Amino acid sequence: MEGPEPELIRQSWREVSRNPLEHGTVLFTRLFELEPDLLPLFQYSCRQLSSPEDCLSSPEFLDHIRKVMLVIDAAVTNVETLSSLEEYLAGLGRKHRTVGVKLSSFSTVGESLLYMLEKCLGPAFTPAMRTAWSQLYGAVVQAMSRGWDSE
Ligand code: HEM
Repeated sequence: MEGPEPELIRQSWREVSRNPLEHGTVLFTRLFELEPDLLPLFQYSCRQLSSPEDCLSSPEFLDHIRKVMLVIDAAVTNVETLSSLEEYLAGLGRKHRTVGVKLSSFSTVGESLLYMLEKCLGPAFTPAMRTAWSQLYGAVVQAMSRGWDSE
C-alpha cells in the first residue's frame, strides 16, 4: 500500500494543531459516544471515572488527550519515515494492552479521529485528505498492534 500523501496530512493538521486540547476533546467525546465501555478504563488516583463529564473535568484525563495529540503530531512530523516510530508505537500498544484496551477499540478511535478532522475543517476536509488520514492512522495502529502480538 502506498504511504499517506504528506502534503495533505500536513495541510489538514495545521489547523488542528493550533488547539490540540479543544480538538482532542471533540475526538474523545465522540469516542465515548461510540464506545462508552472505554470510560472505566480511565482510573486516576484510584478514582474511577464514570461519565464523559467526569473525564473532561479530570486533569489527568486532559493530560491523556494532550498525550494522544502529541503522538499524532509525531506521526504527522514523521509521515515519510514512520518506521522511525515503530519501536515507540509497539511499546505504546503494550502499555494500552496492559491497561485493558482491546486492539479492536482502536478502530473506533480511528473513526473518532476522522470525525474530529471533519468537524474542525468542514468542507476543507477533502476525500483525498480522508484517504491520507486513514492510511496514516492505519500505519500507526499497525505498529501499535505489535503490543498485542503475544495475546
Ligand atoms: C481506546 C482509546 C484509549 C484508551 C482507553 C486509552 C487509555 C489509556 C490509559 C488508561 C493510559 C494510562 C494513564 C495515562 O497515562 O493517562 C494511557 C496512556 C497513554 N496513552 Fe492512551 N488510551 C487510548 C488511546 C490512545 C491513543 C489513540 C493514543 C495515541 C495515539 C494514546 C496515547 C497514550 C500515551 C502517549 C500514554 C502514556 C504512555 C506512557 O505513560 O508511557 N492513547 N492510555
